[in-house]
Amino acid sequence: MRVLAIETSCDDTGAAVVLDGRKILSNVVSSQIPIHQKYGGVVPELASRRHIESIVPIVAEALETAKVTLREIDGIAVTQGPGLVGSLLVGLSFAKSLSFATGLPLVGVNHVEAHLCAIFLEEKPPRFPFVGLVVSGGHTSLFRVDGFGKYKRLGQTRDDAAGEAFDKVAKLLGLGYPGGPIIDELSRAGNSKAIRFPRASLGKDSLDFSFSGLKTAVVNYVKSHPQPMEGYPENLIRDIVSSFQEAVVEVLVRKTLRAAQHQGFKRIVLSGGVAANRRLRERMKEEASEEKIKVYIPSPSFCTDNAAMVGVVGYEYLKRGIRSPLSLNAFSNLPL
Ligand code: KG4
Ligand code: ZN
Repeated sequence: MRVLAIETSCDDTGAAVVLDGRKILSNVVSSQIPIHQKYGGVVPELASRRHIESIVPIVAEALETAKVTLREIDGIAVTQGPGLVGSLLVGLSFAKSLSFATGLPLVGVNHVEAHLCAIFLEEKPPRFPFVGLVVSGGHTSLFRVDGFGKYKRLGQTRDDAAGEAFDKVAKLLGLGYPGGPIIDELSRAGNSKAIRFPRASLGKDSLDFSFSGLKTAVVNYVKSHPQPMEGYPENLIRDIVSSFQEAVVEVLVRKTLRAAQHQGFKRIVLSGGVAANRRLRERMKEEASEEKIKVYIPSPSFCTDNAAMVGVVGYEYLKRGIRSPLSLNAFSNLPL
């Protein structure tokens, strides 16, 4: 089964053709970073306008790269939420129109579920069940995953998402957008022990997260160390972001391992944009191996927003005969 998948939940216009939910025939992502960069974050109105301009050429490119025509597609999968509603509506309206015009079956996909299932695009995916961490610009949640469509949320952030914290700290320090990859890169040469930023525990057994206190601690540090006219020296910037990153990573690792212990599972899956983070990938693997837990992490390009992961989930539902009606709507807070 060849699924045409469409993803427009935030600021990336994505289209992919995925064979049997596993093999990528094409996976095109058009990033809007240059548009939002000067504002230091995604401007929703600009994002949806750009999706409108990109959706037709990006879908055409996905079909062309996969060397298939619409006649060779068996179904359409589209992100229905959560995300920016104006952005979601562009992909959704396009997918519904295409389904109506071609008669192809349509299925709406939850973006968080798509992140969790991106690991099935890899050569050696995990067996079920596993503990899944979704850590992105909009989400920081832990799930028990017993199969496709079988998810139990174990914990989530009470305030900012981890990626949001990365982006805000980078903005505060004037480093650019999106902050995650910039901080990841700068941290390589920084001292992660230079500043002891807080790690929110929220109780001995809690699987919830909180990053707003950490963000405030970075703001306070910056306020109490006024910048000289010429700006902070590069080594201080590196130490600040490296210490900040270490605090985020430590909490993510600790709680994910705790969730695996609570469930008695020996498999952990990381997903979402922040799962592209070098230090998180490294430290999660190190600490999990001490407990004989295997960690599965998609390649960085499958961690950040893409349509192939939507194709994985879409395939699982389409093959079970699950269809969405043309009245399908977008929901910014669609739960999983
Ligand atoms: O999954 P994603 O592409 O979009 C959402 O669904 O939110 O995640 C984007 C987030 C941004 O906050 C970005 O700064 C963060 O993921 N991110 C990273 C890295 N790459 C992307 N954070 C830390 N380290 C990275 N290497
Ligand atoms: Zn995402």
